Amino acid sequence: MLIDNFTVRSPDVTYTDTHIESKYTYTSTDLNCEDLGDGRCAWTISPVESDFHFSTDRRIPRLGIMLVGLGGNNGSTLVGGVIANREGITWKTKEGVRVPNYFGSLTQSSTCRVGSVKGQEVFTPFKTLLPMVNPNDIVFDGWDISGMNLADAMERAKVFDWDLQRQLAPYMKNMKPRPGIYDPNFIAANQSARADNCLKGSKREQMERIRADLRDFREKNALDKIVVLWTANTERYSEILIGLNDDEKSLRSSVDKNEPEISPSTLYALACIDEGVPFINGSPQNTFVPGLIDAAVRLNTIIGGDDFKSGQTKMKSVLVDFLVGAGIKPASIVSYNHLGNNDGMNLSAPNCFRSKEISKSNVIDDVVSSNSLLFRPGEHPDHVVVIKYVPYVGDSKRAMDEYTSEIFMGGTNTIVMHNTCEDSLLAAPLILDMCLIAELSTRIKIKGPDDEQLRGLHPVSSLLSYLTKAPLVPKGTPVVNALSKQRAMLENVFRACIGLAPDNNMLLEYK
Ligand code: NAI
Repeated sequence: MLIDNFTVRSPDVTYTDTHIESKYTYTSTDLNCEDLGDGRCAWTISPVESDFHFSTDRRIPRLGIMLVGLGGNNGSTLVGGVIANREGITWKTKEGVRVPNYFGSLTQSSTCRVGSVKGQEVFTPFKTLLPMVNPNDIVFDGWDISGMNLADAMERAKVFDWDLQRQLAPYMKNMKPRPGIYDPNFIAANQSARADNCLKGSKREQMERIRADLRDFREKNALDKIVVLWTANTERYSEILIGLNDDEKSLRSSVDKNEPEISPSTLYALACIDEGVPFINGSPQNTFVPGLIDAAVRLNTIIGGDDFKSGQTKMKSVLVDFLVGAGIKPASIVSYNHLGNNDGMNLSAPNCFRSKEISKSNVIDDVVSSNSLLFRPGEHPDHVVVIKYVPYVGDSKRAMDEYTSEIFMGGTNTIVMHNTCEDSLLAAPLILDMCLIAELSTRIKIKGPDDEQLRGLHPVSSLLSYLTKAPLVPKGTPVVNALSKQRAMLENVFRACIGLAPDNNMLLEYK
C-alpha cells in the first residue's frame, strides 16, 4: 500500500509553519581495546546513545538548475524529459503510445517503508519524506562551449524518439546555452570542432563572467535558489602542486596569475562557491582540488561528486557487496564498455579516459576491506576497466562484465553480465536527484552533542554518495560505495529529520 501524505505524531517532533523540528536519539557504538600484550586485544563494544536535533525548513524554494554542458546528451535529455513531464506530452512509437515518467529517479520513483497495517506493508514515495522541489517546477539554464540551441542539441544526441523530439522542439528551440569556459588543454582534441560558444579573457575574467551569469539567471527568473551541476565532457586530471592549488590562497592566486593548470571545471566551481551556489560534479575529473574544498568549507557552500553512478559501476557496487556479504571471494573483475556518443569520443583521448579509469577503480575498496576473512591485508581482486569508442552504437552504451569468484572448497564461480542502455536516460534522473537532494541539504540544520547551536550539514555532501562513482566525503569520513548502504544512509538521515528510526527490517512485531 502507498500513502502519499502523512504527519509524524511524536513528543519529539514539532511542525511549525516554516520548519519541522525533530529531537533524535542516535545509536552507535564505542569500541575499546584492552592491551593483552603481544599485540593482542580484548575488545569491548558498548552501545552509545547521543542526542541530535534536526531542523528542516519546510518552505519549498523556486529552484533554478544550471548545467555545465547543457547542450550535451545528458543536458538536452534532462531538459526535454522534464518538459515532457511538465506538459504531459505523449508520443507514438512502433510499440504504441508512450507517456512521460521519472523512472530511474530515486526521489521521484522509489518508495520507503514506513510501517505496516494489519500485516500489510505500507510505503511512501521517497519524495514525501521531506518537503522537496517538484522537478516539473525547475527552471533550467546553463553553459556549453557548443552554441547549438537545445532543440537541435536534442536531435544531435539521438536519444529520444522522433515523435517526442518533434513535440519538444518548440519548447527547446529558444533555449541557447550561455558561452562556456573552454580550455583545449583539458578535454580531448576531438572536441574542438564543436567549440563555437566560448568565453574570452583571463581565467579571472571568465570566472567573474560565470558569477555574473549566476546572478543574472537568479534575477531574471526570480529564483530563491540555484544549483549548478557539471555534466560537461570529462577533463583530464589537474596536477595538484604546493603553491598552485593545495590551499585556498594558492588556488585564488593561481587564478589571478592565469596559471594554465587551473581547469575550467575548477573555475566554474569556484565561481559557484563565491556566489553561495551548490556545485556538483557529475564527471570523474578532480575538479575539487584541495584549495577548492578549503574554499567550500570556509564559505559553507555545498559541493558534491564525483562522476554519476549510473550503470556498470552501480551494478558493481551491488554485486560485489552481495558476493563479499555472502562470504564469496571475488578474485577477478573485468569490465568492458563501448559507446558511440560524444562522451565516448572524448574518452578516446588517453588522459581523459584515465580520469574515468581512476573513478571506476576504487568502487569496491570499502567492500573488500570489510572482510579480512576473505582478503588478507593489502590483497585485492584483479580489477580492470576498458572503454572503447564505437560510433555506430551512439548513446546506447554496452557494458560487459565478468566476475570470477572463489567459492567453497577451491571451486570457482563466474558471472557474466551484458548491459545495453541509452546512457543519458540513466544519467538524467540522477542529475535531477543530485540537484534536488543538494537543494534540500541546504534547508536541513543539525545540532549534535558537540554543537552549541544548530548548524548546516557539512558542505562536502556525503548524502550524494548513492549517486556517485567516487563519493567525495569530508576529510576523515569513511567512503562508502556499497549501494544499499548508501541508500540506507540517505533514507535514514531523511527519516531522522522527521523523528523516525531507521527501518531495521527486524519485524519483531511478527516474531
Ligand atoms: P556530451 O559530450 O554529450 O555532453 C557534454 C557537453 O559538454 C557537450 O555539449 C560539450 O560541448 C560540453 N562542454 C565540454 N566542455 C565544456 C565546458 N568547459 N563548459 C561548458 N560546456 C562544455 O556528454 P554526456 O553524454 O552528456 O555526458 C556528460 C558527462 O557526464 C561526461 O563527462 C560523462 O563522462 C559523464 N557521465 C555520464 C554518464 C552517463 O551518461 N550515464 C555516467 C557517468 C558520467
